[in-house]
Amino acid sequence: MNVGLIGLGHMGLPMACRLAAAGFPLTVWNRSPGRAGPAATAGATVAASAPELAENSDVVITMLANGAAVRSVLSGPDGVLSACRPGTIVIDMSTIGPVAARDIAAEAAAHDVAFLDAPVSGSVALAEQGTLTAMVGGPPDAVERARPVLAVLTRAQFHLGPAGAGAAMKLAVNILIAASNQAIAEALTLAESAGIRRADAYDVLASSAVASPFVSYKREAFLHPDTAPVAFAAALMRKDLDLALSVAAPTGLPLPVASAARDFLDAACAAGYAEADFACVAELLRHQGPGAG
Ligand SMILES: NC(=O)c1ccc[n+]([C@@H]2O[C@H](COP(=O)([O-])OP(=O)(O)OC[C@H]3O[C@@H](n4cnc5c(N)ncnc54)[C@H](OP(=O)(O)O)[C@@H]3O)[C@@H](O)[C@H]2O)c1
Repeated sequence: MNVGLIGLGHMGLPMACRLAAAGFPLTVWNRSPGRAGPAATAGATVAASAPELAENSDVVITMLANGAAVRSVLSGPDGVLSACRPGTIVIDMSTIGPVAARDIAAEAAAHDVAFLDAPVSGSVALAEQGTLTAMVGGPPDAVERARPVLAVLTRAQFHLGPAGAGAAMKLAVNILIAASNQAIAEALTLAESAGIRRADAYDVLASSAVASPFVSYKREAFLHPDTAPVAFAAALMRKDLDLALSVAAPTGLPLPVASAARDFLDAACAAGYAEADFACVAELLRHQGPGAG
């Protein structure tokens, strides 16, 4: 099964490396060509364009920043869907929201291409280990055909319904992640303001009743915000909360915690942290907090 992967950012690159290591014939493409080097070193062929990648792939995976990026790569006469052979499966693993997922699924169907929205929970470390969790929407037969590929990237694949179901579930999960992130930041900075060493406070949080994989793998980002590598940019989490709020708004469902977390991420982005890891909200609290100039 020939696999193509489009988007070699923080998540896409380790996913490409896993697919190559698992032995799938792999072709990759990234908008900024300079980012393709490490995937080529891992054994992938670098395509000259996204449509060229599509022509030679049985399964095409996209891992891109947002819905606009996914639409720009997949849609239209010069897009990937037009270039795919009938029967190809396109799996979008980005976080794009259910409306975009349903639109793209309809366009894919017109090309006799099966589209799965399969966004993931977990970050760079889990992408490297292949232990992400995929939330999948789309036709059941395509999910089964895609499972060998998804199994290399994820430890669990939940098929939740038709197109858009995976995308909607991902937004629900990210409310929980964003709220946890904000709560860790507030708990940590409160402990620090009481004179407790940051690392000691974090050890307690990581051993507390709400200890979780997230609390563990964000340790470096919270302890050493200046030097820890960026795993998930603040601007991307703000995008996800905006999507969640836009899904909820027409239903009248209030999401007060998600709304507050989005507003705080907005402030962080405005303060220059947009490309910083979203754990930067703790830094913003420190700068706004007691003793701040
Ligand atoms: N990072 C995480 O922890 C994490 C976890 C779960 C889900 N996600 C989701 O996964 C997706 C990717 O996240 P990431 O952290 O890997 O993001 P990232 O490092 O910012 O990478 C974004 C990728 O999208 C490409 N891109 C952006 N706009 C494009 C456009 N208009 N046309 C073509 N390519 C475009 C970028 O290409 P260039 O190199 O040319 O800029 C890059 O390859 C996002 O939807 C994010 O919400 C992330």
